[in-house]
Amino acid sequence: MTIKYIETNTSVEQISSLLDDLCSQWSFWPAEQTKACLSQNEYHLHVADQGPGKPPNWTGAILSHHGPFSADIIYLYVAPDHRGKGLAQQLLASLWARLGKNATMEALFLEVRASNLPAIRAYEKFGMKQVGHRKAYYQDGEDALVFSKETMSDSNN
Ligand SMILES: CC(C)(COP(=O)(O)OP(=O)(O)OC[C@H]1O[C@@H](n2cnc3c(N)ncnc32)[C@H](O)[C@@H]1OP(=O)(O)O)[C@@H](O)C(=O)NCCC(=O)NCCS
Repeated sequence: MTIKYIETNTSVEQISSLLDDLCSQWSFWPAEQTKACLSQNEYHLHVADQGPGKPPNWTGAILSHHGPFSADIIYLYVAPDHRGKGLAQQLLASLWARLGKNATMEALFLEVRASNLPAIRAYEKFGMKQVGHRKAYYQDGEDALVFSKETMSDSNN
């Protein structure tokens, strides 16, 4: 399994049908929304790729938005059959390495549903800390927990 960085702008057309297939299987984020994000320079996609073979060959993805001083995770997803094997850690590490190349980048943020224990565990394992709690943040009334990690705070980058 390798983690690949999908270059923005140039590659949206190349990965368009792959995104259509995967997003419909994953029922997680509409492919069109990912494509719209990737047509803008501030969005970045890293995918876990299990190499050539029968498609779909992507088993996970992390989409992030990068401002000049901080970045936000838009989504992190690992296909159900591949969970619990540390793939989320690899995707986070790949994003982290990219953030580390930007000298002005100070922190990475995300919101997660308060009930999403696997995701919370994955973020904590990656060294992220809860820095906020947003009451009734989601449309169904669930709270969001805000997690963050400062880019200067460890040696992973
Ligand atoms: C969250 C998600 C990305 C984690 O992917 P993953 O590759 O399985 O994550 P990792 O293997 O790095 O770590 C997962 C951790 O959660 C733990 N975990 C798994 N199921 C769990 C559960 N039901 N309750 C609590 N912890 C759980 C694992 O044990 C592991 O911790 P450990 O290594 O200490 O045992 C994956 O579950 C997923 O795609 N979920 C659906 C999408 C989602 O919720 N994304 C996050 C949105 S913010």
